Amino acid sequence: MSILSLKNINYCYPLENEPVIQDVSFALEKGKVYGVIGENESGKTTLCNIMRGFIPNLYKGTLRGEVTFKDKSISEYNIGELAAHIGYSFQNPFTQISGVKDTVYEEIAYGMENLGIPRDKMTQRVDELIVLFQLEKLKDQNPFELSGGQKQLVALASVVALDPEIIILDEPTSQLDPKSTEDIFQIVEYLKKAGKTIFLVEHKVDLLAEYCDEIFLLYDGRLVMQGKTAEVLSDESILQYRVQLPQVTLFYLKLVGKKGKVPLTVAETFKALKGSGE
Ligand SMILES: Nc1ncnc2c1ncn2[C@@H]1O[C@H](COP(=O)(O)OP(=O)(O)OP(=O)(O)O)[C@@H](O)[C@H]1O
Ligand SMILES: [Mg+2]
Repeated sequence: MSILSLKNINYCYPLENEPVIQDVSFALEKGKVYGVIGENESGKTTLCNIMRGFIPNLYKGTLRGEVTFKDKSISEYNIGELAAHIGYSFQNPFTQISGVKDTVYEEIAYGMENLGIPRDKMTQRVDELIVLFQLEKLKDQNPFELSGGQKQLVALASVVALDPEIIILDEPTSQLDPKSTEDIFQIVEYLKKAGKTIFLVEHKVDLLAEYCDEIFLLYDGRLVMQGKTAEVLSDESILQYRVQLPQVTLFYLKLVGKKGKVPLTVAETFKALKGSGE
């Protein structure tokens, strides 16, 4: 069942002549993880803003087409109401920090406070998130004193706190080291198991290969490819759109060629090489 869908979306920023999103259509199914790749300025963040209703509400400009959340156009929801359904972790974590709370703990609770969630439920949830995001040591710190990567974790925890059905993550690991990046993907896996639908903009294709059900590829504002992860990320033709293939996939294609099932992960590569007798 589709939970959110875009139909023939075209968008032009105010005072611009060229559309930055062109004829994009797709439907997200509940409980799936979608990886979104595309070179810089290909329109990934713009697309996230459209899905969350910030475009056209805040950015204005000209939006054509239809965005539907649960069989109702998102223009029929008010933007605050949508916050409870569609979580959004911004590309720049500095934008996300509220600036009105003195501790990480309160920052994570802030969105829930705004939604009027009862105090005991709120503290229980924040406590759980502190553990899930491994923020125990930081919980009493001022959010502004955190590193970029730590802010990114707190921002994501604040989004997850609202328990939205769809979670849009715009490059959530851009400022994180490899260990914390893996942790975020583990959290994505946890959210998927909890039935959430995840729209994950991310350049790290090696990890997308492991965790995503489907991949969307944007190029110059167009959705040039969409499909099962194993199909899209094993297809050399995506290189023309200036995105990468997983390292092991590239290695396999060079060594063996397009024989059998092209592997996307280290484990799959071992299996495939054994099978091919290389
Ligand atoms: N507020 C704005 N006003 C006008 N043009 C904009 C605005 N924001 C983005 N753009 C343009 O829209 C296009 C898509 O930008 P967008 O930020 O959506 O791409 P992106 O794929 O998220 O890029 P990145 O990988 O750098 O985050 C770019 O050409 C960009 O210059
Ligand atoms: Mg972006």
